[in-house]
Amino acid sequence: MSDSNPFGTLIPNREDMRCCDGGASIEISHVQLDSITDAVRHQYGALAKKAAERASSSTKASDRFYTEEQRYTLTDEAAGASAGCGNPVGIADVNPGETVLDLGSGGGIDCFLAAREVGETGHVVGIDMTPEMLDLARTNAEKLQTGNIVFKLGHIESIPQEDNSVDLVISNCVIALSDKKDRVFSEIFRILKPGGRFVISDVVTDKPLPVDVRRSAAEWVDCVAGAAVMGDYIEMIAETGFTDIEVLEERTRSGGAEEWRDSLIDLTLRGFKNT
Ligand SMILES: C[S@@+](CC[C@H](N)C(=O)[O-])C[C@H]1O[C@@H](n2cnc3c(N)ncnc32)[C@H](O)[C@@H]1O
Repeated sequence: MSDSNPFGTLIPNREDMRCCDGGASIEISHVQLDSITDAVRHQYGALAKKAAERASSSTKASDRFYTEEQRYTLTDEAAGASAGCGNPVGIADVNPGETVLDLGSGGGIDCFLAAREVGETGHVVGIDMTPEMLDLARTNAEKLQTGNIVFKLGHIESIPQEDNSVDLVISNCVIALSDKKDRVFSEIFRILKPGGRFVISDVVTDKPLPVDVRRSAAEWVDCVAGAAVMGDYIEMIAETGFTDIEVLEERTRSGGAEEWRDSLIDLTLRGFKNT
């Protein structure tokens, strides 16, 4: 990947960027939205390189969403790269022997936690499109001496995984970065075994965001501009074929610099693929 910013000067190099932080709003045109994937890859590649440094920062997502017991099991770099908006493994009731797949695995935080739960008889697969994040996750896996995780390069809209092969799909603050959310949930449905489930943390809203925010590349790479309205999101998931869709956690953000930020919600949802 080129180190140059795909939006030229439109996206600043936000070294402290985290998925759940607010940031400068920079307007882009619809045409430039075609390059969003490159912008997302660029930003998370930069974040991967800062993981060790961010480990000592007090604002990283791992401090907010994970228990002390969970954090204790991680490398500093896995904690430092954490950019989620929830703790899906913490509430997914992962069972020994299960196959778990993490969409947008980043530095691997949720994969490492899931790997402990599934044990030696289980398997964990992390999928990410950013090479720097995969390198970081693989280095973390070596340090943690995990033998039951594989990290694969891939896109969540076209998951490199066989049909009906996964017990549990998790994801943490990633689907908001995709402009093809319906495609992502179709793929989740395809790879889950009958009776399988997803537990996903994501950013949604309680009302449509202002148009200028939705067109902001900086807000997009920060998991904000691409956030769907919660009702539409759940309806889309139901239309994919999932049943028993349940909100496990819902945290409204408040106190943002702009009023519209109060409509952002950190959501964790579960749904099942019927047998
Ligand atoms: C906000 S970070 C979250 C990482 C991790 N889930 C966590 O909780 O720390 C988003 C991650 O998703 C990856 N990503 C974003 N869009 C993706 C896509 N369409 N396909 C695959 N990976 C994607 C990025 O490379 C990045 O590592």
